[in-house]
Amino acid sequence: MNPLNHVAIIMDGNGRWGLKNYNSRKRGHSEGLKTVEKIIKGSIKNKINYLTLFAFSTENWKRPKSEINYLFHLLESFLKNKIDELKKNNIKLKILGEKKFPKKIINLLKKSEFITKNNSQLQINLALNYGSKQEIISAIKKLNKKKLNITEENISNFLYTKYIPDPEILIRTGNTKRLSNFLLWQISYTEIFFSKKLWPDFNEKDFEKIIKQFKKIKRNFGKI
Ligand code: IPE
Ligand code: IPE
Ligand code: MG
Repeated sequence: MNPLNHVAIIMDGNGRWGLKNYNSRKRGHSEGLKTVEKIIKGSIKNKINYLTLFAFSTENWKRPKSEINYLFHLLESFLKNKIDELKKNNIKLKILGEKKFPKKIINLLKKSEFITKNNSQLQINLALNYGSKQEIISAIKKLNKKKLNITEENISNFLYTKYIPDPEILIRTGNTKRLSNFLLWQISYTEIFFSKKLWPDFNEKDFEKIIKQFKKIKRNFGKI
């Protein structure tokens, strides 16, 4: 059975779910948060140490302002309402991505990271304003500045995911098979699962099924 330490998820399909069920993309985003809570529970239950959630990409700035504002409003109320619960449940929160947001959001993110920094049951990495190509470019620039060699180890150490092991599983919901600039470096040997379900319809059972399937895969890493 394969050991499982880190699951990464591209939570896609909120907008379509909202449009289909309530004629409102926003409603899909708020509903998607309920799935986030279910998957956090499922991760703890399965003794997963790292859960990385793609919440907002560097490309998502191209969306209408009203949708972007709503997404950050949701993030703000989620953190304000849930941070104590995260702390109590021994969950550590880490933001992956450039913290280029309005000041009050930056402060809230930093505060949430600080409050939970010593927690150790589950680390949730929230990818926010995250772009994998930008992440790799910025790592290489930092190496150049420090006159360090371009090695696999050095690059890994200058990514946002420093100290975080690569994910064993990547899940993308929403019935599209693409990576959308997510963790390109870190998933070079990750098992990838695409779910046809839209994120608000995805549940703990679907999560468990993927984990079960993963555990049985023969992982070669180039060997036979
Ligand atoms: C994913 O859902 C969440 C974010 C990108 C914030 P989408 O909003 O992309 O939903 P669809 O793909 O349009 O249905
Ligand atoms: C990827 O979903 C980003 C997040 C889930 C945050 P998108 O919906 O933005 O991806 P594309 O644009 O359809 O590839
Ligand atoms: Mg989408």
